[in-house]
Amino acid sequence: MAEQETEACIKELREKLWGARDVAVLTGAGISAESGVPTFRGEGGLWKQFRAVDLATPEAFSRDPKLVWEFYNWRRELVAPLSPNPGHFALAEIERRVPRFTLITQNIDGLHEKAGSRNIIELHGNLWRVRCTRCETVTEDRSIPLPELPACESCGSLLRPHVVWFGEILEPQVLNAAYDAIGGCDLMIVIGTSGTVQPAASMGVQAKRNGAAVAEINLEPTPYSDVYNISISGKSGEMLPQLL
Ligand code: OAD
Ligand code: ZN
Repeated sequence: MAEQETEACIKELREKLWGARDVAVLTGAGISAESGVPTFRGEGGLWKQFRAVDLATPEAFSRDPKLVWEFYNWRRELVAPLSPNPGHFALAEIERRVPRFTLITQNIDGLHEKAGSRNIIELHGNLWRVRCTRCETVTEDRSIPLPELPACESCGSLLRPHVVWFGEILEPQVLNAAYDAIGGCDLMIVIGTSGTVQPAASMGVQAKRNGAAVAEINLEPTPYSDVYNISISGKSGEMLPQLL
């Protein structure tokens, strides 16, 4: 994308943003890439290195919980020392300046919260929470590493990461909150997601159908780039601060 074209798109989005009453944002792994968190599908992506079916499905966990926990312990270790980047911080600042703001994220790294964002919907759970496989109690646990097979404090059963795996459905309350935000917003910004995993992938299109203007910020074109009203090609850590 030509530099001038990018500038014009940023200007257009900036005007829409500061005129909006209700803003929804959807983020994916791309927003955390500049913090050092690996994405899933691009160059160096996690699903290039590992098979998701071996590590991020309920079947994988039943078959080999130690292996799955080893993977999540490794991801916790990797993310723990990392900091939010200017993209995360810009979103936290935008939230303070617009009347209504909802941040819907597919990320489990907790970096939006670290950056100061408040109204966050975590579609795919959180790396720092664990859930009992029997009594379903969810607790925050930031210890690293967790035991090979961590146990629930209330009932002693095996804990699992409080994340959504392939083949699992999203929590209904979480999904409903996301659809409320999408249905009510007048502007939606879709950032750093490849648009390959449902239901998040179609949220931008739904917002557009509901009458919102939809903008995308991504390093590369996605299947939705031509569908949205504005498509900005660039790094979120460089583009988002320009909206302020
Ligand atoms: P992907 O890895 O599929 O896509 C990352 C996107 O970010 C790509 O479109 C990149 O072009 C873009 N990108 C990379 N660096 C960027 C940067 N600095 N600025 C802007 N964009 C950048 O990640 P997601 O779309 O988040 O789910 O993946 C969706 C879901 O698939 C994840 O939540 C996870 C995964 O399997 C589960 O584990 C359930
Ligand atoms: Zn329990």
